[in-house]
Amino acid sequence: RIAGPCSVVIFGVTGDLSRKKLMPAIYDLVNRGLLPPAFALVGFARREYSHEDFAQIVLESVKAHARTEFRQEVWDQLSEGIRFVQGTFEDDAAFSQLASTLKQLDHDRGTGGNHAFYLSIPPNAFPVVLQQLSRTGLAAATEPEPGHAKPWRRVVIEKPFGHDLKSAKELNALVNRTFPEETVFRIDHYLGKETVQNLLALRFANELFQPIWNSNYVDHVQITMAEDIGLGGRAGYYDGIGAARDVIQNHLLQLLALTTMEDPVSFQPKQLQIEKIKVFSALKLVEPLDETTARGQYTEGWQGSEHVVGLLDEEGFDPQSRTETYAAITLNVDTRRWAGVPFYLRTGKRLGRRVTEIAIMFKRAPHLPFDQVMTEELGQNALVIRVQPDEGITLRFGSKVPGSSMEVRDVNMDFSYGASFTESSPEAYERLILDVLLGVPSLFPVNEEVELSWRILDPVIEHWAAGGKPDPYESGTWGPKSADEMLARTGREWRRP
Ligand code: BG6
Repeated sequence: RIAGPCSVVIFGVTGDLSRKKLMPAIYDLVNRGLLPPAFALVGFARREYSHEDFAQIVLESVKAHARTEFRQEVWDQLSEGIRFVQGTFEDDAAFSQLASTLKQLDHDRGTGGNHAFYLSIPPNAFPVVLQQLSRTGLAAATEPEPGHAKPWRRVVIEKPFGHDLKSAKELNALVNRTFPEETVFRIDHYLGKETVQNLLALRFANELFQPIWNSNYVDHVQITMAEDIGLGGRAGYYDGIGAARDVIQNHLLQLLALTTMEDPVSFQPKQLQIEKIKVFSALKLVEPLDETTARGQYTEGWQGSEHVVGLLDEEGFDPQSRTETYAAITLNVDTRRWAGVPFYLRTGKRLGRRVTEIAIMFKRAPHLPFDQVMTEELGQNALVIRVQPDEGITLRFGSKVPGSSMEVRDVNMDFSYGASFTESSPEAYERLILDVLLGVPSLFPVNEEVELSWRILDPVIEHWAAGGKPDPYESGTWGPKSADEMLARTGREWRRP
């Protein structure tokens, strides 16, 4: 579907996210014909740019980061609708200027009074921006012209959605004072990833996996989000936040919810939400947290052939920082389907390689009629959903090694996107921005999900805060020893993707 006439206003437009993801995604949408000619992009920031300066910045970011090919006529169409409003968030005059710019665009470009406000700004700037949008009347949709549909107003917010349950509730209340919940789009870009959506197709379009997707057959599940990058340049955001708040609260818990939820009645946003909220309500931490969680902080080491510094030597980090760069937790999903199955979630920076995957690990066959020595290389059957990179799915099972003896060893059956599809995957932000403009909220967490996820994580973070320093791990390895011990206690081990 193609979005209708509208404008997108980005606050924090000079930031990294905007340059690397948002502006290129908007260009890609125009290039794919998914945004109409009646579209405008308005940047709001403190810097003194003219419309032309700002358009030049958009152009540079498009050329550097867009997925689709550069086409002059597409750029001409987009750039005619690019405007810049200069000011601070406290500046009443700048917001009045924004209001008149949008009005003018409605008139010149036919954007129809439909506006999406993208808050790509630190949460402490939310109150003032929301208040300004409310003061200028921009947050509330105006009455339609006779014969026209009521224009819409939507707000897009980026994580962090608070830093604990209390602050998340305050943030939700604050946002909802200005924008009713159905007009709030919280971005969790993992939900925009092709492979993550395919999880729903895999589970609900096939009969094959359904009968085994439960505690009768599944031994445990490992959800891994490993990154090789360090945190240089991100101290301002990350120090004091840490891995659990940065990605477990959102990306990993969302992956868990999609892996474990029951079939939605339909793909209507409301129905998906109902099922996801049920899972979030059923999540329980496995205790004692000392034994079922682990956290670490990277020290210097080698990332491939590059020597890298430890977190405490990264610029801007407090040399005494206790911020964890690795986090692992154990959860149960207390439902009939999943009772007793542990879900291990882990994430870390400066790990062996960049990989995100969901590995469903199956129970072993109850009886093996082979000699024990013949099955030494037989592991657990596994279904691995490779979220990134090398997107695809692997099914791992035992197979006879050719030869005269009955030796059984693990083999992989692989589906890879590259080999099966010629279509390229859109970037997550492309998909999500389009959904905002279409008003389709399926892929956006609602306030209840956010609050439930903090309810799960808060005790872990408090537990860690009361303990000592995170356990050190060398850059380029797979995390602290304590994380291996955490699984070893249950007789299991982490996969080495
Ligand atoms: C962000 C986190 O949400 O996701 C970052 O704040 C992380 O710390 C990033 O690096 C990873 O995103 P992706 O899409 O590269 O896996």
